[in-house]
Amino acid sequence: MKIFDNKQNLSNYLNELRNNGKSIGFVPTMGALHQGHLSLLAQSQQQTDVSVCSIFVNPTQFNDPKDLEKYPRPIESDIQKLEQAGCDILFNPEVNEMYAGNEQWHLDLDELEALLEGKFRPGHYQGVTQVVFKLFDIVKPDMAFFGQKDYQQVLVIQKMIDLLHLPVKLVMCPILRETDGLAMSSRNIHLSADDRKHALVLSRTLNWLKQNFDLSQIASLTKQCEDFIKAEPGVQLEYFEVANGKNLRNADQGSKQIVALVAAKVGNTRLIDNMIIRD
Ligand code: PAF
Repeated sequence: MKIFDNKQNLSNYLNELRNNGKSIGFVPTMGALHQGHLSLLAQSQQQTDVSVCSIFVNPTQFNDPKDLEKYPRPIESDIQKLEQAGCDILFNPEVNEMYAGNEQWHLDLDELEALLEGKFRPGHYQGVTQVVFKLFDIVKPDMAFFGQKDYQQVLVIQKMIDLLHLPVKLVMCPILRETDGLAMSSRNIHLSADDRKHALVLSRTLNWLKQNFDLSQIASLTKQCEDFIKAEPGVQLEYFEVANGKNLRNADQGSKQIVALVAAKVGNTRLIDNMIIRD
């Protein structure tokens, strides 16, 4: 695997590959890699000639400095995992390689910015789009692979692609779960053994909703789901929403695509999860 920390060197290297007719797949990450990330890489390897993974803990998408500070950064083991998985290229820049100083960035994300994650993490998606735009500009991928785990992020990135007419195809890849149902996340390493048990209420509730979806009205199902989660010790619910899968507005029984999304603090760790109820 080739490793770059300099954007110009990476860009030159990729230009050569592109001139030789190679298609480029891109998997942007913040590291602390798990099987979920590696499944994105596997998709990229299947669908493109050259796979680039980036590891960059992007400061502009954190609204809590403590969260940024404690974000895991196990770079040596990440490199090993990528080598083993056969990744072609890793881009692992320092902050000053990505940001020259105090830069202005604003994209009109409309209600996607105000809903759900947007409401609980003000400015988060401005930071995400800011860095993903920069990364796309350096890598110029044909295809970019994002996890369904961050469902709202996928919609936000697609909106940026549409607004700015970026020539990249976004592919959303399914959530990977531990055998007990917990959605894989870099943040799971912060969970104590007790937190880990309590965290299962999230996937259990999403599964329950999926199985019972046709039996009741959305409002009453949502209330029951909220009550399940609130009853779990050590879990502080932020939101549980049954939403239209296209725009994340409240779903109604007639919506063609429906996704249920949840965010909660488990102990001191904020987790998100979701499930596609109707595709
Ligand atoms: O999903 C993530 O890990 C990040 O939000 C991303 C897309 C790598 C941007 O920093």
